[in-house]
This record gives sequence, C-alpha cells and structure tokens, in this order.
Amino acid sequence: MRIDKFLHQMNIGTRSQITQLIKKGAVTLNARQVVSGKTQLKPGQDLVKLGEREIQYQVHYYYLLNKPLGVISASTDKHQKTVMDLFNKSDYRPDLFPVGRLDKDTEGLLLITNDGDLAHKLLSPAHHIKKTYEATVTGKLDEQVIQKFTDGITLKDGTELYPAKLEILNYNKLENTTRVHVQIQEGKYHQVRRMFGAVGQKVVRLQRIKMGTLAIDVGLLPGNYRELSQKEVDELLELTK
Ligand code: URA
Repeated sequence: MRIDKFLHQMNIGTRSQITQLIKKGAVTLNARQVVSGKTQLKPGQDLVKLGEREIQYQVHYYYLLNKPLGVISASTDKHQKTVMDLFNKSDYRPDLFPVGRLDKDTEGLLLITNDGDLAHKLLSPAHHIKKTYEATVTGKLDEQVIQKFTDGITLKDGTELYPAKLEILNYNKLENTTRVHVQIQEGKYHQVRRMFGAVGQKVVRLQRIKMGTLAIDVGLLPGNYRELSQKEVDELLELTK
C-alpha cells in the first residue's frame, strides 16, 4: 500500500495535508524519513511514525454510543441531527455507520462501526441477537402481560413475534406507570412500542441497555461514546460466528 493512502485510511488528514506532512519530513517508515507519498509499505508489518507518534494499522472501528433523545440513527441527513454528528472530528470517519436504528425518541446503546460484515450479522434475523430495553410504560402490568410476552405477542397488524422476556422492576403509583426490562430477539420497526400497544399500554420512555454481549455503561452519559475494548469486539465476533 502507498504510504499516503495508508495515512489517509488511518484518518491522519486530508490527502493534501498528508502530502504536506511528508514534504515537511514528519513521516518515517521503519525509522527512515519518507520523501514520497508513493513509498510502498506493508500495513500491520512496517513501522510508521508521524513525529514521535506511532501510527497503528486498524481496519475496523467500533464505538458504543449512548444515543440521546432527538437525534436520528442515520449516517447523514440534510435537515436533522444524526448520531454521527455527535462524533469528534478526530474520531469521525465517513465509513462509520450505526448498526440498526433506534427511534428519534429512544435513547441508549447504539453500536457505531465500519465493519459491514459484523453489522449485517448482528441485524440478520437468523442470528436472533437479543436486545434488552428499559422502558417506562403506562398502567400497572401484571403476570398476564408477562405471559403474553413469553408466549409471543401478535401486533395489531397481525405480525406474530418471537417470545420475549418481560421483567417488572417497579410500579409508580403517583404517575401510574411501570418500569420494566424487555428482552426481544428481533428488530422490527417500533417493535417495543408496538408490543406494548398490543397489550393496551403506551411507552413513555424507552432506552436500549444491551445488544448481544454488549451492555451500556452506567457512566456513559447520553450523547457520549467510547471505543469498544478488544474483549467486547471479540465477544461480538464470537456471538455472530
Ligand atoms: N423498539 C421501539 O419501539 N423503538 C426503538 O427505538 C427500538 C425498539
């Protein structure tokens, strides 16, 4: 691979910025100053440095974002703020995208990556990747609703869903709402809201807290993101094998 292409892929700067860096003598390959962007290297084997900084070869990037309310799960949009607008300039790459969608008024865990293969597998219905949501819903839920979720809800349009797990956390008498955890194994449009609609309740707050082996951190505030650890990436790759 050409060194200018390598540096561009590693998000070091625009092509002209990289040309300038090489011209200035800021780039070394195996401790020798690089004089041309055409210089060939073996990514992952050769040692590239920008000044004192070692430039590691990385193909795939994985981030866990705590999606806040009011932004859409898309890569770009002409009118609305997207989850990608929450990224710092230094982390942003045009090939990053959110894996699946959360509604504009849903918060919580969203995986952002440029690994199309993993994304495809996580979203594929064949893999039945489990997603857990914390929801606040109207009314007081009882054992009968838990059983309906266990048996598999039929949505108002006739769609039959796979069994889901419903756990009641607490009932708020003052607001007449119930806080629950729901675990589903599909990802149909507005699925959780429509499941509660099918049992006569309305979701007033919805937050995704888990997807497969990945869980949201308590300390990661809405709008913030962090890179996945190697262990978290390996667990996701193992889950989708
Ligand atoms: N179910 C919903 O209804 N909305 C979401 O954003 C995710 C799951």
